[in-house]
Amino acid sequence: MKALILSGGKGTRLRPLTYSGAKQLVPVANRPILFYCIDNIVNAGIRDIGIVISPETGDEIKETVGTGKTWGARITYILQDKPAGLAHAVRISKRFLKNSSFVMYLGDNLIGTDIRKFVLDFEKKRSDALILLKEVDNPKQFGVADVRKNGTILRLIEKPENPPSNLALVGVYIFSSKIHSAIDRIKPSTRGELEITDAIQELISTGHHVKSFVLKDWWLDTGKKDDLLTANAIVLDEWGRKKIEGTIDKASRILGRVSLGRNSSIKASTVRGPVVIGHNAVIENSFIGPHTSIGDYARIVNSSIEHSVILSGSEVIDVERMEESLIGRRVRVFRNHRHKALRLMLGDDSTVEV
Ligand code: TTP
Repeated sequence: MKALILSGGKGTRLRPLTYSGAKQLVPVANRPILFYCIDNIVNAGIRDIGIVISPETGDEIKETVGTGKTWGARITYILQDKPAGLAHAVRISKRFLKNSSFVMYLGDNLIGTDIRKFVLDFEKKRSDALILLKEVDNPKQFGVADVRKNGTILRLIEKPENPPSNLALVGVYIFSSKIHSAIDRIKPSTRGELEITDAIQELISTGHHVKSFVLKDWWLDTGKKDDLLTANAIVLDEWGRKKIEGTIDKASRILGRVSLGRNSSIKASTVRGPVVIGHNAVIENSFIGPHTSIGDYARIVNSSIEHSVILSGSEVIDVERMEESLIGRRVRVFRNHRHKALRLMLGDDSTVEV
């Protein structure tokens, strides 16, 4: 069994963060989303991993992930020249995949479930495709499955007007090599992409066995700001732990699970976990509330922040109360005591709520 992680694409929904970087590298609890995908794959015993990258963000992904040695895995990078669809990404990866079965994992998806049991089930039952589903409130916005009680899929529909169920397709799939001939038989959709749902539908229509499981744990498609903040909160809740490598002075209080990286310092501040603070960061005379991630080299002074993600190198100074915010890299947010008016310099596609 191999794995194929899809890390190309455009990432339009997470702009402006994704102007300067790949969306799969946006950190959740200070670790790139992509790292959680690799963790899950490696925990399922898969060591041979292909990562599909785009010309725009491929180098950054290669540099951050490396050879896979840290995971004991071997990573092969596969360049997709344009984001022509998930099935297109599989098609161009054929040389890597050969005749092997494989887990296909969307590099911007986070799931709270270990995929090992699905890999075992797939191998035991010799299925042709296994898909994961999750109940959602708004099925019209997803690929939706029409499913028999035993989990066999009858039909898949992309963003249906009248959804046959509230079961959305999660971005993790397992395929046998039969998926390649199914992809060869499909045509691009109206949005011009080769859709993986069409390829799976093709397998179903030609009598192949497509099985599904419904996830009970959380699933987060980290496409948008609020999804990212939710993902950050859940990951901190579930996997956050106490680990202090930096220094904390006597005037500070640390409550709950707080992780503080090396060379970071907390002075005259209260930090209430779950919180993660990277390395070389400074927290001074501030309150950092639950579900906050603060990146490396960040500086928080005379401020109060909660339920937020602050990326590396950013500064927040004299801000009385910041919440539910997503701040990119090297951003400066500060109060100017002399001017009443807001004075802003914001990149394209920024959002400011005042
Ligand atoms: P999507 O979220 O469907 O597409 P996108 O990355 O273009 O995002 P947005 O809607 O914000 O513009 O992609 C899911 C994952 O698959 C994501 O990690 C990108 C990756 N992908 C590819 O690798 N190749 C592709 O051709 C497409 C469409 C996506």
